[in-house]
Amino acid sequence: MAEEKKILFSGMQATGNLTLGNYLGALKNWVSLNEDYECYYCVVDEHSITVRQDPAELRQRARALLILYIAAGLDPEKNCIYYQSHVSGHAELAWILNCYTYMGELQRMTQFKDKSAKHAENINAGLFTYPVLMAADILLFQADVVPVGVDQMQHLELTRDIAQRFNGIYGDVFKIPEAYIGKVGANIKSLQNPTKKMSKSDENPNASIYLMDDTDTIIRKFKRAVTDSESEVRYSPDKPGISNLIDIYRAATGKTVEEVEKEFDGKGYGDFKLAVGEAAANLLKPLQQRVAELSKDKAYIDGVIKNNAERANYTASKTLRKVQKKIGFPERIR
Ligand code: TRP
Repeated sequence: MAEEKKILFSGMQATGNLTLGNYLGALKNWVSLNEDYECYYCVVDEHSITVRQDPAELRQRARALLILYIAAGLDPEKNCIYYQSHVSGHAELAWILNCYTYMGELQRMTQFKDKSAKHAENINAGLFTYPVLMAADILLFQADVVPVGVDQMQHLELTRDIAQRFNGIYGDVFKIPEAYIGKVGANIKSLQNPTKKMSKSDENPNASIYLMDDTDTIIRKFKRAVTDSESEVRYSPDKPGISNLIDIYRAATGKTVEEVEKEFDGKGYGDFKLAVGEAAANLLKPLQQRVAELSKDKAYIDGVIKNNAERANYTASKTLRKVQKKIGFPERIR
């Protein structure tokens, strides 16, 4: 019998415009995983409402993200690509896990502290229990591995703690997930402040390359990228701006640091920035074309949404029923 594949779960929020950092750091690398893992890629729209959203915009962005997953090369026949809100098990399990999570644990979450400072007018209970919903996402699918960035490691640790606590009381119900550290994706920084990560929620549009930016915009943003006052294209911790541009160029072209340094030996920052801009634009153009084509094919995308939600619901309900039984909820009469 063929060995069962390990399960991989990841999610992205549909808020903000996805950036080149999201693509090079995550999406692009996920494509190589679909042979080795049974993959679930969730558009976590329920997490999004922890901050206020415009309904029409949320709906449009969630669909755009789902299309982007497919355009980036994730095959919806092999990967389960779906909306969190189409699988009620997420919210149901989150409620249960809330009762196995301590206030003190949630109070320590740095993302909660950051977000409540940023949205001081709307520190709602959902923002506080956000990590519990994330734990439910992961545990619902009995995921073995979760590819996450460093900013989500604390949430993953909490997920493991909750799962272990639950298993300690009720026996082996949840698999204990691990962070996926494989071929690590590129860690792309802001173009305006290269010590910070390139973020889709950055207020300065020049700090990020958005996946849907056109060539002129991309080149203009790279031209304005913050560098240092030298003129040598060299990878070094004391040259964070140039090092970030080298990382982007490398990720976009597949070249090594040495090759890049050699290619621009004796040339100035202007030439280099232009080359990085062109490489990024060339990388994104085919992606943008696939997004445009897929967006036109409403019937196909609707089919993917429907089928994958059914698949996800089927798998999720198996875990949920088991959990409900363990904690003593009455059996369903059929
Ligand atoms: N909180 C994650 C982020 O903002 C998104 C997310 C929600 C997630 N559920 C998840 C990531 C489950 C991995 C697994 O990036």
